[in-house]
Amino acid sequence: MTKPLLQKSLTESEMTMLAAALAGLLVGGECIALHGELGAGKTTFARALIRALLKDPLHEVPSPTFSLRQDYSGRCGPIVHFDLYRLVVPEELDELDFDDAVGAAITIIEWPERASDRLPLNRVEIALSESDAPDKRQISLSGRGSACETAACLARNYGHP
Ligand SMILES: Nc1ncnc2c1ncn2[C@@H]1O[C@H](COP(=O)(O)OP(=O)(O)OP(=O)(O)O)[C@@H](O)[C@H]1O
Ligand SMILES: [Mg+2]
Repeated sequence: MTKPLLQKSLTESEMTMLAAALAGLLVGGECIALHGELGAGKTTFARALIRALLKDPLHEVPSPTFSLRQDYSGRCGPIVHFDLYRLVVPEELDELDFDDAVGAAITIIEWPERASDRLPLNRVEIALSESDAPDKRQISLSGRGSACETAACLARNYGHP
């Protein structure tokens, strides 16, 4: 992870608001990498982000635990949600059309480290971890390459609503 622009302990509803704020900054084609251990809240964040992008708070957003990939069609074009936990070798990404997706869609990637050097260089990085309170998660936000600007804007907007 690069230097965090925002570090906060958030409840699930606060996390949903942060995801909605991020959705408002995306124009299409960005990559959001979601780091964190099992149960850290990656799918919960991804679900809130996808629902905000679709402007449909009840849209069904299953965890792609077994399919590894779930596709949506949003106002900014395609959205692809990956969960790479079950990926054994990065070559399996070919079967998932991973490279095409990162070039064309908003990609939201759980377990991004599994993609190794196939991960796009420009990406918003969000790391989730346990917090003091059981209903909160520590979130750490940063950006790489051209996504630094998006991450910085989100940190500014969220810090000063
Ligand atoms: N502040 C919070 N933010 C996100 N999730 C929270 C929070 N507080 C509690 N939770 C709960 O923690 C659980 C997180 O599960 P989730 O499936 O999102 O984790 P995950 O990181 O995707 O796990 P996996 O690695 O297995 O895919 C959910 O049951 C959610 O309701
Ligand atoms: Mg998950």
